[in-house]
Amino acid sequence: MSAMKAVLINTTFQSGHHGCTLVDRQLDLLTAEAGIDLCTKLPLHADWQKLAPADFDLVLVNGEGALHHDSKAARRLAAVPLWAQKRGRPAFLINSVYQANGPKIAAGIARYQAVFARDELSLGALTEAGIAATVVPDLTLTCEPTLTRGSGRLVVFTDSSMHDTNARLHRAALAIGARYLPLMARPPQLTVQAHADASRRWRYATKRLVAHAAPPGLWRDRWRSLIPGFDDYVAWLAQNAGLIVSGRFHGVCIALDFGIPVLGVPSNTWKIEALLAGADLEHRLVSDLEELQQRLLTKGLEPYFYTRAELHRIVAFRKQALASARSMFQSIHQSTARLRLAGERPMAAVEFATKVAARSTDPAYDRIVRMTPTISNATKPSKSWFDQLIGSLVRRIGRHAYALAWQDTANALRNELQRRATMLAADFIQTRMPNALFCGDKFDHLEWAWQHVPAGLALEFGVFKGVTITHLARLAPDRQIFGFDSFLGLPEQWSGNRYSKFNFDRKGKIPKVPSNVTIVGGWFDETLPKFLLQHNEPIAFMHIDCDIYSSTKTVLDLTAGRLAPGAVLVFDEFFNYVGFEMHEYKAFFDFVERFDAKYRFIGYSGQQVSMVIDAVQKLAA
Ligand SMILES: C[S@@+](CC[C@H](N)C(=O)[O-])C[C@H]1O[C@@H](n2cnc3c(N)ncnc32)[C@H](O)[C@@H]1O
Repeated sequence: MSAMKAVLINTTFQSGHHGCTLVDRQLDLLTAEAGIDLCTKLPLHADWQKLAPADFDLVLVNGEGALHHDSKAARRLAAVPLWAQKRGRPAFLINSVYQANGPKIAAGIARYQAVFARDELSLGALTEAGIAATVVPDLTLTCEPTLTRGSGRLVVFTDSSMHDTNARLHRAALAIGARYLPLMARPPQLTVQAHADASRRWRYATKRLVAHAAPPGLWRDRWRSLIPGFDDYVAWLAQNAGLIVSGRFHGVCIALDFGIPVLGVPSNTWKIEALLAGADLEHRLVSDLEELQQRLLTKGLEPYFYTRAELHRIVAFRKQALASARSMFQSIHQSTARLRLAGERPMAAVEFATKVAARSTDPAYDRIVRMTPTISNATKPSKSWFDQLIGSLVRRIGRHAYALAWQDTANALRNELQRRATMLAADFIQTRMPNALFCGDKFDHLEWAWQHVPAGLALEFGVFKGVTITHLARLAPDRQIFGFDSFLGLPEQWSGNRYSKFNFDRKGKIPKVPSNVTIVGGWFDETLPKFLLQHNEPIAFMHIDCDIYSSTKTVLDLTAGRLAPGAVLVFDEFFNYVGFEMHEYKAFFDFVERFDAKYRFIGYSGQQVSMVIDAVQKLAA
């Protein structure tokens, strides 16, 4: 096979994105294997006419996710074959999505010598537009990883190209303490378009620097948490990720390559749905991130591990991706060689295109698909790269200065986070506890909960100054209430909450309490086992006000086997504050799962929730 020189259009690796880096690597490998030399790689918005070398054999156009909804990028992709045809060279469209394009774009695409779509849905759309095509899955799926997977069990959320989805992914990651890891990377150094490259690298470096001083939030995490180099990025994922939730098409591909369980979140086209369908993994598409968040909190990530059948399907899918990519590049090489031998211009495709163009509603077809220059020198004065850079920096600094001057950022952040926590709590009430009673405040709530309490022990965990235990003692003057507290504060920091462990430190001082209250001083894990040995009755009531996960878990684990049927639990900080999902709430659902507890919610107020425990079924746990 003699080597052929190809101009690659729409090279994307310069954008600073791990998916595009992998596409680029696989393109280099597979074309070299087929005897095609990528002599020039040009971004889609470069001026091909000027930058293409004088001598080349064919044009390869990397479609990726650009060909949809008659976008500007789609128009440029549709213009390439006419330009190539004028140079007497065939153009091939590879690795492309195709969705919702009108007849003008279809007419341009039909001029390609051959079209290779990334998925079946795109193939369907091309066929409908009268364009013959073949499916070859995304080139990133042809990579053969040299790394083996570690035993990491972190949940990793990637970014998304859709702003709203990106914000939701980031929020979900924060809510469950997962890692938010965008696919963005350090832009590489380029040989063409050096000015654009310098400006891109400058912007990247500035944002990385600013991110270290930026207030917490999506912007900061986006720029701070990325891993700049591709090899470091995949090595980190292979080692640490137990599940990837990805809003990026290539995030899903990379997960499939490394055998990491993945869930895809829809993007701006059907690319993620179509990819998962191609691998027979449609059920791994997630549209409701809030629900996923709840499930991850309550059930962990095991339900998302791959089954044996899924693993087999992924292996088969990737094998087929590699085989079809190889045969695609061989067929491109062969058909270019045939055209060269016959001294033909790629007429067959043009004839076909003309037929499609005839169906177009626009008679001036050639005017539409002719490439428009990137910058018209006649109408727009060109700016040096330095001017562009300074302009961009000044605009950015101006925007940030404005935002900082007019906002109390700490307050804005606090309000926004609280608003989101309230939304989650409201959703929880509507979906999980529609029959529970709303109470005006925590005291009213305790009163309501107390009405359901059967015979047995009444305990409070977290007494502090004795406010709530005094209220309970007055509600039930004929019963003894036991109050547990270290009176030394929390054993550890309360993440997500401004109350540190020192806020509740009474230096061991026991508060004054009514006569029907007995105080049990000390750490729960030391005092509670002894107490339960000394008191044989079942536990009828627990007011759990110890705030943090570990303390709540200790209480629930130690008392699970002693709860009376119908025992009432009241949690004082169950939901509706920043980080609630990590504390009493989580400890309760862990308890439900571990002991297979049957329960009914009966009431709630601002942050408090109460429930009746009907049965605890798995005491051996
Ligand atoms: C929010 S305060 C309780 C407020 C109280 N119910 C009231 O209304 O005034 C939480 C208390 O839980 C106690 N606490 C948390 N974890 C504990 C543990 N593992 N052992 C003992 N005390 C603990 C802290 O010392 C703190 O006083």
